[in-house]
Amino acid sequence: MNPLFDLGLPLLRLLPPETAHRASIAALRVGIAPGGPELDPSSLGITLWGRRFPNPVGLAAGFDKNAEVPDAMLRFGFGFVETGTVTPRPQPGNPKPRLFRLVEDRALINRLGFNNEGLDAVRTRLVARRGRAGLVGANLGKNKDSTDAIADYVAGARALAGLADYLVVNVSSPNTPGLRDLQRKTSLLALIAALKSARGEVVSTDPPPLLLKIAPDLSEDGRAEIAEAALESGVDGVVISNTTVARPAGLRSRHAHESGGLSGKPLLAVSTALVGEMRRLTRGRMPLVGVGGVASGADAYAKIRAGASLVQLYTALVYEGPGLVSRIKRDLAGFLARDGFASIADAVGADVPLPS
Ligand SMILES: Cc1cc2nc3c(=O)[nH]c(=O)nc-3n(C[C@H](O)[C@H](O)[C@H](O)COP(=O)(O)O)c2cc1C
Repeated sequence: MNPLFDLGLPLLRLLPPETAHRASIAALRVGIAPGGPELDPSSLGITLWGRRFPNPVGLAAGFDKNAEVPDAMLRFGFGFVETGTVTPRPQPGNPKPRLFRLVEDRALINRLGFNNEGLDAVRTRLVARRGRAGLVGANLGKNKDSTDAIADYVAGARALAGLADYLVVNVSSPNTPGLRDLQRKTSLLALIAALKSARGEVVSTDPPPLLLKIAPDLSEDGRAEIAEAALESGVDGVVISNTTVARPAGLRSRHAHESGGLSGKPLLAVSTALVGEMRRLTRGRMPLVGVGGVASGADAYAKIRAGASLVQLYTALVYEGPGLVSRIKRDLAGFLARDGFASIADAVGADVPLPS
């Protein structure tokens, strides 16, 4: 592990959060990343959708929205990197400030609003890395001023299905008005059917799996509807979860009342519980990706035991630096060995048995 980034972390923390993020991306683009990916213990590998993940710890969407640094992030040891959210046309996002550190709570609040360079820019970068090792997904969204949401997601699938190892349909950002309404069953069925046919037009053999990313703020009925839609639509997996608009009691930071999506430690328990519930509701029939508050091997392991085949993180990277990825993997391998699991796949859902 290159210690430069961890050493630079206290300095980055002196900058406003969005400036620090830009500085990190700029540094990664000029090559401040370790030389090559570490070899992961074989117990951490998992095969899903015919793709071999060397380890189950991924970078969540939102860090590398424009696909500028996926290879640098893979070199920090992530088993996969999710780029995006990308919208068809570039858009500036919401007025600044729009990203806040809740240091005392180990959390962030963001209301970025899908600031990104658009599909052409992302496509060009993914074309440039075509053929390289390492799994890179693409998270798709819609433009704020779009009047046809389905057309926007379809444009994303058409542009990126041949270049990404998996696609995520993001209907769960709290920062694009109306987006979360797409989580209703009828909307989801129409959206996923359109995306599956667009994907099939671009890649007829072995198309990338299509995953659905959901919010943690759904009602009980809403959760049941999503599970039904996921099963009926034939989506390939569910990413659980995006940021929350809830403000759990006990937040201490002065920024706790900023509007936007809350991520990090306060989201951990809620999002892990939602993994378990979605496992039950989808009867273990599709892989789940657990994301929300992962900051340790124990957090990742809890999501896996709740039913996640993969996990992702973003916020903890801001507080712990990229050395965290190696620590999580080391501790995960230790927990598997301690509990007698030969592989991640054996531990998936261990805490949420399904009726036979
Ligand atoms: C600054 C920031 C930007 C984000 N942008 C996106 C995004 O563009 N698309 C998306 O699906 N999720 C986005 N997320 C949500 C994360 O992918 C993740 O679901 C959430 O932060 C919970 O994980 P964490 O607690 O490890 O950060 C963003 C999160 C943060 C903190």
